Amino acid sequence: MKAFVLERYGKKRALKMTDVPTPQLRDDEVLVEVHAAGVNLIDSKIRDGEFKLILPYKFPLVLGHDVAGVVVKVGPRVRQFKVGDEVYARVDDLRIGTFAEFVPVREASLALKPRTLTMEEAASIPLVALTAWQALVERANLNKGQKAFIQAGSGGVGTFAIQLAKHLGATVATTTSAGNIELVKTLGADVVIDYRTQDFEQILRDYDVVLNSQDGKTLEKSLRVLKTGGKLISISGPPDPAFAKASGAPGFVKLVMRLLSLGIRGRAGRRGVDYSFLFMHADGRQLREIARLVDANVIRPVLDRVVPFEQTNEAMTYVEAGRAKGKVVIKVR
Ligand SMILES: NC(=O)c1ccc[n+]([C@@H]2O[C@H](COP(=O)([O-])OP(=O)(O)OC[C@H]3O[C@@H](n4cnc5c(N)ncnc54)[C@H](OP(=O)(O)O)[C@@H]3O)[C@@H](O)[C@H]2O)c1
Repeated sequence: MKAFVLERYGKKRALKMTDVPTPQLRDDEVLVEVHAAGVNLIDSKIRDGEFKLILPYKFPLVLGHDVAGVVVKVGPRVRQFKVGDEVYARVDDLRIGTFAEFVPVREASLALKPRTLTMEEAASIPLVALTAWQALVERANLNKGQKAFIQAGSGGVGTFAIQLAKHLGATVATTTSAGNIELVKTLGADVVIDYRTQDFEQILRDYDVVLNSQDGKTLEKSLRVLKTGGKLISISGPPDPAFAKASGAPGFVKLVMRLLSLGIRGRAGRRGVDYSFLFMHADGRQLREIARLVDANVIRPVLDRVVPFEQTNEAMTYVEAGRAKGKVVIKVR
């Protein structure tokens, strides 16, 4: 099969389009013919070597975490899917590879694709939607009447998280730059802050939840907009002890990870705020719930652009520049 392959770690290193064997299917997996693959920053971060101590990949490595496509083969232990099903998934860590013509996906990580979406739209959803779901539903238990601050509302995670938080009944504040203010309002944001000209710390007060996706300075400021008992959930670090413990990283890496968040955890504790780091995971059951919301028109995907398979490297470079409005998707078939 044709695939975009990383031969070894390297900052900004280009992936090479080449022929590789189709991966062997495991008993609990289905083989998906990839129609479209979503691009995420984690693809670039893995390529650059940022995750090598936590996710020890072998080379040559096919990147790509999000897929929408058609089931062409099922493993003997698979019960819920059959050949011909249209599906979507965020594939499992250490089993990635959606920048290819075929990818094996564990049954438990897969769901039927939302009926109302094209393959490209469906491929834009899994990783960012699961991130928003795991932050706002699972971890924050966000409820009607609460206030949520979702940073970078015009990005992949932000465009989905704003819509999900509104659906849960929350008041939503977000940051973006001037050109995207209309977009985030359309998605439902109640309070929109232009991060280039305004300081969110001066505007927001007594929030229940912050979804932090930016730098350390933004994280510190976020602490101060939360009320006592509020939750600061960061997807951009630093990692916390629970993540370190679950990570399977070597002992010294676990220790370093714990130390990295010592300061923010201490300051959060003194303010009566809960700090946690979220590293999202694959989950087919949650993707089924998400498909229901999409088909009910509660949440719509936001696509910045769809690029042909040959332009996979360009798509990654564009996402790395940090200006995407919603998602970038590669059309594979
Ligand atoms: N831990 C996890 O499980 C997990 C999961 C998903 C993502 N992440 C991480 O979360 C971060 C966000 O991911 P993403 O996919 O949503 O990113 P993205 O789609 O690339 O974000 C791009 C958007 O960010 C906005 N932006 C840039 N700088 C900003 C700032 N200082 N304040 C507010 N908005 C800003 C841009 O708007 P303008 O053009 O208007 O500036 C643009 O629309 C990344 O670091 C990613 O790696 C982590």
